[in-house]
Amino acid sequence: MKKLVINGGRELDGKALLQGSKNSALPILAATVAVEGVSIIHNCPDLTDVTAALKILGHIGCKIKREGHTVIVDASGANRFDIPENLMREMRSSIVFLGSLLARFGKAVVAPPGGCEIGLRPIDLHLSAFGLMGVEISESGGKLECNAHGRMNGRHISLSFPSVGATENILLAAVTSQGETVISNAAREPEIIDLANFLNKCGARISGAGQSVIYVVPAKRLRPAEHTIIPDRIVASTYMACAASAGGSVAVDGVIKDHLLPVIPVFESSGCRITVSGRELMLKAPPRLFRIRYLRTMPYPGFPTDSQAIVMAMLAKANGTSVITEKIFENRFRHVPELVKMGADIRVENGCVAVVEGVEKLAGACVSATDLRGGCALAVAALGAQGKTVISDIHHIDRGCENFEMSLSQLGADIKRI
Ligand code: UD1
Repeated sequence: MKKLVINGGRELDGKALLQGSKNSALPILAATVAVEGVSIIHNCPDLTDVTAALKILGHIGCKIKREGHTVIVDASGANRFDIPENLMREMRSSIVFLGSLLARFGKAVVAPPGGCEIGLRPIDLHLSAFGLMGVEISESGGKLECNAHGRMNGRHISLSFPSVGATENILLAAVTSQGETVISNAAREPEIIDLANFLNKCGARISGAGQSVIYVVPAKRLRPAEHTIIPDRIVASTYMACAASAGGSVAVDGVIKDHLLPVIPVFESSGCRITVSGRELMLKAPPRLFRIRYLRTMPYPGFPTDSQAIVMAMLAKANGTSVITEKIFENRFRHVPELVKMGADIRVENGCVAVVEGVEKLAGACVSATDLRGGCALAVAALGAQGKTVISDIHHIDRGCENFEMSLSQLGADIKRI
């Protein structure tokens, strides 16, 4: 089993090049199924989740070429509308293939998806939207069978929660359906805008992406397009947290500042100095971080749940008490017992509130990554801890961070994979 070994206590200094967004790449790769031709996707990060998406595309009958960070998907020969259980279970976001298979074939057979163990993660919102669009859904032998009996119908769909995955799935299904679709209380994340931009290049007419109400005028067929994935705002905040925890100053190259507006004020309140010039963000850590009195995760443009664990890890050594409330997922404090092993003083109340009493120092320990962002949080803590930390189960980190240890060692961290 691969592990990361980090000798903490070294200040970071230098520049990290930001990868493309995983959460944008996955739905866009799924969208290529609905295109009867060749899609060219640039800035696609090299991650195990992306490899899992490519395996699904291959199974469906697409031809795939990977040239560095460019993925070329030829879906002209796609001829299967089922995804077997082993491929579905490799990652949660495989569920977005449901929308694209329905868009292409009018039917789909899939197993329930897998992914991080951060909560129940039901797909009721996805399924009820498809039901409204005329898809017949039945479950048999642990598989979901969806059949639109031809083209789906555009509808007005009002989400009871702005689910990212449900919004993406509805967009995918709506672009080849009959008639206009309106999504109210849609997710507003930048990744939704990126998917809409790709689908628009393919001939759909989507307006309002990034706002709460999205309008979709479908295309009869989606035409091939070329697209560049947006930078990964969550990985940007991870490098920022690494520098804040270890000390020093780090530049993150390739950011879109607007996407980081929900997190920049949090780092500033903790005493970090941040400047953004063009696509480069510079963070200078203070000698000791201040506490954040109160932080709550929210759908975009609120503070992202995906940045909660890494910020908690950096606040473990801050001066004072921080209170973090997690409201998006019900099981997203699994990193807390691991941080406690390193000397952090964190207690969880009612399952969704973490009270972080900042300690003077953390000490290296043997810890285990419980999920992707929780694993990154352990690295954040380890970089600012005294002594050696060994992080196991790092396959979680590899799902979302490309060349994590290489980028950190270029910043001066003492980190290696064994
Ligand atoms: C996406 C991101 C993930 C991020 C999350 C929230 C990808 C690949 N993953 O996940 O990194 O943490 O958005 O920003 O883009 N829910 C339901 N029923 C549903 C759908 C969702 O109850 O049908 C609940 C979920 O259980 C969860 C909450 O809504 O509690 C948010 O889920 P959602 O926004 O759908 O997140 P994902 O798309 O799974």
